[in-house]
Parts: sequence; C-alpha cells; structure tokens
Amino acid sequence: MRTLLTTCFIIGCLLLALIGCQNEIDIRTAQYTVNGQKVYITHCQNCHGEKGEGLGNLYPPLTDTKFLKDNQQNLACIVKYGTTGELEVAGKKFNNTMPASNLSAVDIAYVLTYISTKINKGKEIFPLNEVEKQLKNCQ
Ligand code: HEC
Repeated sequence: MRTLLTTCFIIGCLLLALIGCQNEIDIRTAQYTVNGQKVYITHCQNCHGEKGEGLGNLYPPLTDTKFLKDNQQNLACIVKYGTTGELEVAGKKFNNTMPASNLSAVDIAYVLTYISTKINKGKEIFPLNEVEKQLKNCQ
C-alpha cells in the first residue's frame, strides 16, 4: 500500500511538472502577444489596418500566411528596414514603399508574434534569437 501511494505521488508530481513546463511556453507566447499588440497599434496599424486587412492597392494585408511562410527568413529585416518594389500578397500586386521602423529586436519579436498569434490565429512564437539572427543578414 505504501509503495503504491508513493508511486502515485511521484507520477502525480511528474505530471504536474510536465503541465508546468507547457504553461511556461504558453505564458511567454502570451507575453510576446500582449507586448506585440502595443507595438502593432503604434507602428503598423495605420497602414496595415486593425486586423491586418491592409488597404486597397496601397498597403498589403498581413493575413497571407503563405506569403509570410515563404518570406519567414526575411520578416525581421522587412519590419526593421522597410521594403520597396513589386510584391504579390494575397493574390494582389503591390508596388509601394514601407518605411523603416527601426524597432529594436525585441519589439520586432513581439510584433511578429502578434501577427502570428492574433492576426493569423496561430500558436507560434517568433523568438527573439530568431529576430537577432535574421537582422545580422539583412541586405
Ligand atoms: C507607412 C505605411 C506602413 C507602415 C507604418 C508599416 N507598413 Fe508594412 N508595408 C507597407 C507597404 C506599402 C508594404 C509593401 C511594400 C511594397 O510594395 O514593396 C508593406 C509590407 C509589409 C510586409 C510584407 C508584405 C505583407 O503584407 O505580408 C510585412 C510583413 C509588413 N509590411 C509588416 C509591417 C509591420 C510589422 C509594421 C509595423 C512595425 C509595418 N509593416 C508598418 C506599409 C507600411
């Protein structure tokens, strides 16, 4: 009986530890998202719209997950230094200029996480170390 109880106790602890770890990941994503919303409202919403819907032929939407995935390696550079020239997003051509934001790496990680989790209902965090890696290789 004693050993059975002890075994159950140990298994219980292991399960709790597991759930604890899981939550920690979610909490970090949630924190990035909350901070990202502030960055988004201040620095992006004017052009890309409240829900990332874009504006006509001027500003592309941020809801084309295929575009975002194909350009994943370049997103931090686009956000920091802006971009110009012809782009096809959500089946539409854009040929305009996005000005540089000059945001810090951590703000870029926040806002890209916000685009992933809130604008596109994903679960993925855009981690700071990924942003830092990309920023070293901007052209
Ligand atoms: C002054 C308006 C403006 C602001 C502010 C702005 N953008 Fe853009 N953004 C643009 C335009 C215009 C393009 C397309 C440029 C082109 O045609 O080459 C673009 C393109 C993009 C793209 C690539 C295409 C797409 O729609 O997925 C991303 C990602 C993006 N912006 C994210 C952001 C984020 C994040 C912010 C805030 C930090 C931001 N932008 C702020 C105007 C803006």
